[in-house]
Amino acid sequence: MFRTEMRSCLCAEVNAELEGKDVSLCGWVNKKRDHGNLIFIDLRDRSGLVQLFPKDEASAEIMKTLRSEDVIQVKGIVKRRPENMINRDMLSGETEVECYYAEVLSRSAVTPFVIEEDVKASEELRLKYRYLDLRRKYMSSALIMRSKVIKSIRDYLTDKGFIDIETPVMSKSTPEGARDYLVPSRIHAGKFYSLVQSPQIYKQILMVAGFDRYFQIARCFRDEDQRADRQPEFTQLDLEMSFVTSNDVLEVMEKMFAHVFKEILNIDLAIPFRRMTYDESMEKYGSDKPDLRYSLEINDITDIAKKTEFSVFREQEFTGALVSEDDFTRKEIDELTEFVKSVGALGLGYMKFSPEAVSGPLSKYLPKETAQTAKGTLFAMSGKKKRTLEYLGMLRRKIATMKKYDAKDEFNFVWVVEFPLFEFDEKENRYVACHHMFTMPKKEHLATMSADPLSARGDLYDLVCNGIELASGSIRIHDPKIQKEIMKIVGMTEEELQSRFGFLLDAFKYGAPPHGGIAPGIDRLVSLMLKRDNIRDVIAFPKTLNGIGLMEDSPDYVTKRQLDELHLKVEKENEN
Ligand code: AMO
Repeated sequence: MFRTEMRSCLCAEVNAELEGKDVSLCGWVNKKRDHGNLIFIDLRDRSGLVQLFPKDEASAEIMKTLRSEDVIQVKGIVKRRPENMINRDMLSGETEVECYYAEVLSRSAVTPFVIEEDVKASEELRLKYRYLDLRRKYMSSALIMRSKVIKSIRDYLTDKGFIDIETPVMSKSTPEGARDYLVPSRIHAGKFYSLVQSPQIYKQILMVAGFDRYFQIARCFRDEDQRADRQPEFTQLDLEMSFVTSNDVLEVMEKMFAHVFKEILNIDLAIPFRRMTYDESMEKYGSDKPDLRYSLEINDITDIAKKTEFSVFREQEFTGALVSEDDFTRKEIDELTEFVKSVGALGLGYMKFSPEAVSGPLSKYLPKETAQTAKGTLFAMSGKKKRTLEYLGMLRRKIATMKKYDAKDEFNFVWVVEFPLFEFDEKENRYVACHHMFTMPKKEHLATMSADPLSARGDLYDLVCNGIELASGSIRIHDPKIQKEIMKIVGMTEEELQSRFGFLLDAFKYGAPPHGGIAPGIDRLVSLMLKRDNIRDVIAFPKTLNGIGLMEDSPDYVTKRQLDELHLKVEKENEN
C-alpha cells in the first residue's frame, strides 16, 4: 500500500477486497467517456488504471471538465462491478470507485502526441517529450524492471561479502580505449579532467588497498560512434576480487546471473555456462560474440576448394562455407550477395542441393558431399583467413535474421575465453590492447609476448548471450614489471607511462594482491532480459545516435564568460 496524506493506495491496488471502503486516489486522466448522464474516467498512475464515476452533481461537474492528462485527486467508495462489466485486462478491473469528491490538481495542455501503448509518434518526438513517453506502460515497465534488476544484483553481491564503493567520475585522461569526454578545470588553467570510461584503475587500486571484494553500479563515459547497443554514458556493474583465478570470477558471475534471472524472470539458467576459446569462436562462428541459439557453423573447406578448377578458390588463402538446410530464393541470395559486398567481401558463391539435384554457380566445382547434409544451400567465401571468417560471421547473422533462426526464445549464454592480448592497429601503425592494458597474459605467453605480440593470449573472458557482449573482464597484472612491458608493446614511452599511469605502477610497489574482475553492462543486460532491441528503452533520458539529448537540447553553447573562466577559446563552431 502506497499511503500518503493525499492518497490511500495506487490505482491498480484498488480491488475487491476493498469493496465498500473509502479510498483517495491521485493520478492522470487516461480516458474520459462522457455519455451525458453517465461519466466514466480511467485514472492512471504508475501502477495502472482504475475506473471512476461520480456519485454526486458536484463531482460530475468537475469530471465533465476533465481532459486527457489532467492531474486529479478523487475520494470515493470502492464498488464491485456487475459480473458482465468486469475488465480482466485491468488489475483493478473487478471494481470501480464511486467518487464523492474530485479536485483538479493540474491541467494538461494538449499533448504533442497521443499517449497510447500502440504509439504512432516518431521516436524523435517521443525523446523530446520523454516525460510523456515514460507515462506509457511499455516504457515505465522497462525502468521499473531495471530498478529491480539492480536491487537483485546489489542484494546478491552484498550478501556474498562484496562492498559497494563509489569512485570518481572526474579523473585523468588515459590514452587507450575510446575517446574521452573532457572537463576543463577553472582553477588549473589548461588542465582537464576526463570522465572515466570505466572505474578500471580505481577498482584495481581498491584491491591494493585491501578491500578484497568490490562492486559498484558505475556510470561510464565514452566518446565513440553510437549504435543500438551503445550510449555515450552507460552503466556497468563493475566488480573486482582479490586472490582469485578466472574460474572464481566466472563462478561468482554465473551464480549472480542465475539469481537475478530466477528472481526477476523466474527463469532457471543452466550453470555453469558453456566456455569456448576465442580461437574456436572465430573459426566456428566468425565472431567473438557467437549467437548460439542456432548452429549454422562455418566449415573450413579450403582443402577441397584448393583442388577445384575454380581460380578464386585455388588462389585464396582460405575458403569457408555456411550450410543451411533451407532453400533461398533468387532475391534472398541477391540480398545476401549485396550484403557481403557492402561489408567488404570479394563475393559470395552458392550451390543448392537435394538428394536428386545440385544447382547454382558452385555446383560445377564443389562435390556435393561438401555440404554434408541431404538438402539445403551452401554459401562459400574466400580470401584472407581472418577477414573471411569475419565476413562469414556477418553472413551467418544476416542469414539467421532472414530465416528467423534468431527468433528463438531463450537466453543462450557462453563464456568466450583466452582472447588475444594485442591486435595491430593499421591506422596507428602499432599494437593496441584488445581489451585493456591491465590484463594478465597467459603464463605460457609471458616470455614470448614482446617478440610475438599477436600470438599472445590473455587471461580474458567475455560473457556473451544471444550474440550480445554482456560483460568483459580479466585477471589483472599485479606486477609492475609485466605492466611496464605491456605498455611498451603498445608503444608508450617511459615518460608517458609515468605521467599517465605512474600512480598505478606506484601502488603496485606496495604489496599488490593477485586480482581480477569483470564488468557487465547494465543497459545491455536489462534490454536483453526485456527482449528490447535498443538500450535507449531501458535508459530514462538517453542520447540519440549522434549524441544529442533531445529533451534538454544538449550539448549546447555556453557563454563567453563561462569560456573565459575556463581559459578556453572556441575556434570553430558548428556551421549549422
Ligand atoms: P568493456 O569496455 O568491455 O570493459 O565494457 C564492459 C561492458 O560494458 C558494456 N558497454 C557498454 N554499454 C553501453 N554503451 C556503451 N558505449 C558500452 N561500452 C561497453 C558492455 C561491455 O561488455 N573495465 C573493463 C571491465 C573489466 O575488465 O573489468 C571494461 O570497461 O556490456
